[in-house]
Amino acid sequence: MRGSSNSRRILQKLRQITISSVGSVKIKLLLTLCIAFTLLVIGCRVASFMGWEHRLAAGRPSEPRKGFTILINTWKRDDLLKQSIVHYTSCSSVDSIHIVWSEPDPPSDSLRVFLRRVIQSKSKDGNEIELKFDFNREDSLNNRFKEIKDTKTDAVFSIDDDVVFPCSSVEFAFSVWRSAPDTMVGFVPRMHWVDKSRDSGEYYTYGGWWSVWWMGTYSMVLSKAAFFHKKYLDLYTNQMPVSIRDYVSRNRNCEDIAMAFLVANATGVPPIWVKGKIFEIGSTGISSLGGHSERRSQCVNRFVSEYGHMPLVSTSVKAIDSRHIWFW
Ligand SMILES: *[C@@H]1O[C@H](CO)[C@@H](O)[C@H](O)[C@H]1NC(C)=O
Repeated sequence: MRGSSNSRRILQKLRQITISSVGSVKIKLLLTLCIAFTLLVIGCRVASFMGWEHRLAAGRPSEPRKGFTILINTWKRDDLLKQSIVHYTSCSSVDSIHIVWSEPDPPSDSLRVFLRRVIQSKSKDGNEIELKFDFNREDSLNNRFKEIKDTKTDAVFSIDDDVVFPCSSVEFAFSVWRSAPDTMVGFVPRMHWVDKSRDSGEYYTYGGWWSVWWMGTYSMVLSKAAFFHKKYLDLYTNQMPVSIRDYVSRNRNCEDIAMAFLVANATGVPPIWVKGKIFEIGSTGISSLGGHSERRSQCVNRFVSEYGHMPLVSTSVKAIDSRHIWFW
């Protein structure tokens, strides 16, 4: 009995204190929040300084790590190719690099020697990155998706020679791909929509950078910077209708759209857009922002008629690294 009346008194006191000090509680709360935020910022700095972040990214240390294969498409731009390879050889999960070579002349000795030296200088504990040229007799955009017979990794990171992504972005995209290995995971989103202004049935329009920015929706990620499973190389070269490959060859365009269609048709789900910093090292920055979209729309409509339906699926999901996000 006494106990309960005691506790009632205490409760009453507490209530009084609470009511009288609401103002100061607010200030205290604010101060605590400020302090917590400062500590978080400092903590984050210390964490990256002490290498915790790196260990987090690398996963369990005892697990034998399977990396990815870089498939790089290049054309008469040795200086860009060198820059790219110097950069990517420093990313930790790169297992091998395949250079798609479609020039009539073989790579120069100086290029080979340079790349050889880069690879040797970056080798870690006797583990050397494998570097190979894939030679092609004819110059076709389909070359970039030829099957790689002897690749040891399931993951392929397809890139153009004129864009570079920091290793942290690439490793993050790789981790996204590992959680959805059938899906295409990339940094450059594009979209399509039905053009209702035309009355000649369904006509699709291809939307570039600005459209995605405006609508926040996309249905493709371009193979100029994307992860996908190596099985899609086999599908592209051996299963996809020849008419699509011919169209790509003839028009010298849209191999990336053809790949987006192929993966969408095989999976029935949208690709995944990953946030990442892009550094354009070539001079083609403008063309990737817009322009030439009429030709791209034609490709989309052509491929829709080849498939007999529109396989692309739209989404507005964007994957971001939660370690780098403060507010949620
Ligand atoms: C699209 O996917 C279906 C079902 O997997 C498959 O049967 C068909 O051959 C694919 N179409 C093309 C053009 O690849």
